[in-house]
Amino acid sequence: MSKESLSKPGSVFRRIKVGGVELAIADHGRGDPMILVHGFPLDRRMWRGQVGSFDGFRLILPDLRGFGLSESSPPPYPMELLAEDIRQLIDHLGLERVVLGGLSMGGYVALAFAARYPERLHALLLFDTQAAADSPEVRERRADQAARVRRDGASAIAPELVERLVGGRDVATDVVELTRQMIASASIEGMVGALTGMMSRPDMTALLPDIACPTLVLVGSDDAITPPSVARAMAAAIPGAELVEIPDAGHLAPLEQPAAANRAIATLLSRVFARPASPSR
Ligand code: MLT
Repeated sequence: MSKESLSKPGSVFRRIKVGGVELAIADHGRGDPMILVHGFPLDRRMWRGQVGSFDGFRLILPDLRGFGLSESSPPPYPMELLAEDIRQLIDHLGLERVVLGGLSMGGYVALAFAARYPERLHALLLFDTQAAADSPEVRERRADQAARVRRDGASAIAPELVERLVGGRDVATDVVELTRQMIASASIEGMVGALTGMMSRPDMTALLPDIACPTLVLVGSDDAITPPSVARAMAAAIPGAELVEIPDAGHLAPLEQPAAANRAIATLLSRVFARPASPSR
């Protein structure tokens, strides 16, 4: 495992081998562990607004295989494989239980993890995500995108992905720029692996009533990909889940409106750990 200092005190950069690939991990602070899993085709940097924001918590931000600074493997990347990477990461770090959160594709991974390893969860955070499988139209679009990436490289679909994630709304320029940079860091194998993995993912709706750990369902009020109506239905199906709708945010709510998202996360953490977890900035 190699380490590299990050800009914030108490932060390290690790490389950890799981499932035959080396994952890049940003590991911030000390305390009860919280792992946040990024969406497609992004990386750990999408959680920049959460770093240093929770007193007494250790924030572990992996780049999934094929994304950011992590190694790739040949496609496909079923959500179960990515969840298994997270399980091995947790084992490698010697952690019993974690708070696990994921945005969009990261949420699909978190749900796949919750189905297999519920005993490893203190709490679940589902950001701008859904339990349903892809519709035939979405499957078709992903198959077409995967074919174009294979043929012409990842840049072939980058503009439409930026447009889908942050287009058509008034989003801060630096958020748009970071989104572009993250997409540019994704490898061809990562893009194709995740697209083909997402399109074959099972419907997880039947799992929702069995989720027994405290759960936060958070959604941007302007999320056009996994809209508030989807989040409401998902939260209603999970016993005791909290639903928080973040105003003036789209599909990347924790990146677009970090202060509001952090308040919602801190409220859940305080409840689970019976101590304040307020954002420290
Ligand atoms: C994501 O943000 O991870 C993607 O929008 C997920 C998806 O396309 O279903």
